[in-house]
Amino acid sequence: MTQPHLLITGASGFLGSWLCEAAQPQWQVTGLYSRQPGSDATVNWVQANLCKLEQLAPLITRLKPEAVIHLAALSNTPYCEAHPEETAKLNVDAPIALAQTCAQQQIPLIFTSSDLVFDGENSPNKETAPPYKENAPVNPQTAYGQQKAQAEAGVMAAWPQAIVARMPLMFGMGHSDSPKTAPNNFMTRLLEALKAGEPISLFHDEIRNPLSAKMAAQGLLLAVDLAINQRHQGLLHLGGPEAVSRYDLGVLLAKAQGYDPSHLQACSQDDVSFTMPRPKNVCIDCSLAHSLGFTPPSLAEQLAKH
Ligand SMILES: NC(=O)c1ccc[n+]([C@@H]2O[C@H](COP(=O)([O-])OP(=O)(O)OC[C@H]3O[C@@H](n4cnc5c(N)ncnc54)[C@H](OP(=O)(O)O)[C@@H]3O)[C@@H](O)[C@H]2O)c1
Repeated sequence: MTQPHLLITGASGFLGSWLCEAAQPQWQVTGLYSRQPGSDATVNWVQANLCKLEQLAPLITRLKPEAVIHLAALSNTPYCEAHPEETAKLNVDAPIALAQTCAQQQIPLIFTSSDLVFDGENSPNKETAPPYKENAPVNPQTAYGQQKAQAEAGVMAAWPQAIVARMPLMFGMGHSDSPKTAPNNFMTRLLEALKAGEPISLFHDEIRNPLSAKMAAQGLLLAVDLAINQRHQGLLHLGGPEAVSRYDLGVLLAKAQGYDPSHLQACSQDDVSFTMPRPKNVCIDCSLAHSLGFTPPSLAEQLAKH
């Protein structure tokens, strides 16, 4: 039996590499990249610049996927802050154009958004405070968050059957053969400091519900299944099971990987002056995803050596 065909944009990126692996053998995967293909030889790699919007519909018509997961984005938040117009092409215009094409061709679409659409403030009103439910009002504080919020609205307007999956802070542990970590991300730097026994300061008042990219990939594949079977459409929160500070996450990582956590120091966001806003607590409530079958293991298990 031939497998159904899944198109993953941003397949060469951090989450994309985990998703390509998790999707097979159930799916035959085509992976889009812009500069360099990924290393998975079983993926059909196709080069495309998604900012060239006029090429999108012909590309989808040619590839004929049964479902699309759209990961491609420019997610470096300081870069988005400094270059809002340039980055909006990929972060806003491309997902909306893709949603229009998928709507025309009736192709199930999953678009990955971010917890940074929320402001992270502890409002006394439960509806607008973390952990945020899907219907909580967005109030992004950064250009990247604003772009994701704009794209979410545009995608859902263009293709109401699409699923907009809001992702939390992700990390790349849990792979036995070749740990895939995003270069220069928070967890990579933290792990290097732990290995070297170097002191590192971590915020005790910046709260997230992080998730391994391995589990995020499972969540996105579940979302594809839900979209295909029309069991869900619109917003879906795919966060981790626990709300932790960056400091707590560091301690958990150290313990899970067998390093001494005593080099980790807790500090406050108030001790640092930032050049751009840094939301305090953007935890997302994932009870909806849980009720639909998304049940990632504890954070300690996700961080453990396998
Ligand atoms: N990582 C996180 O913690 C996190 C948290 C919340 C949400 N998200 C969202 O999850 C998604 C995946 O994130 P990630 O961390 O895996 O991102 P990433 O590692 O930065 O990967 C970005 C991908 O986008 C592709 N891309 C860049 N410019 C392109 C263009 N003009 N045309 C086509 N493709 C282009 C890149 O291809 P090349 O490398 O070939 O240029 C790469 O495959 C993103 O939408 C991100 O906003 C991530």
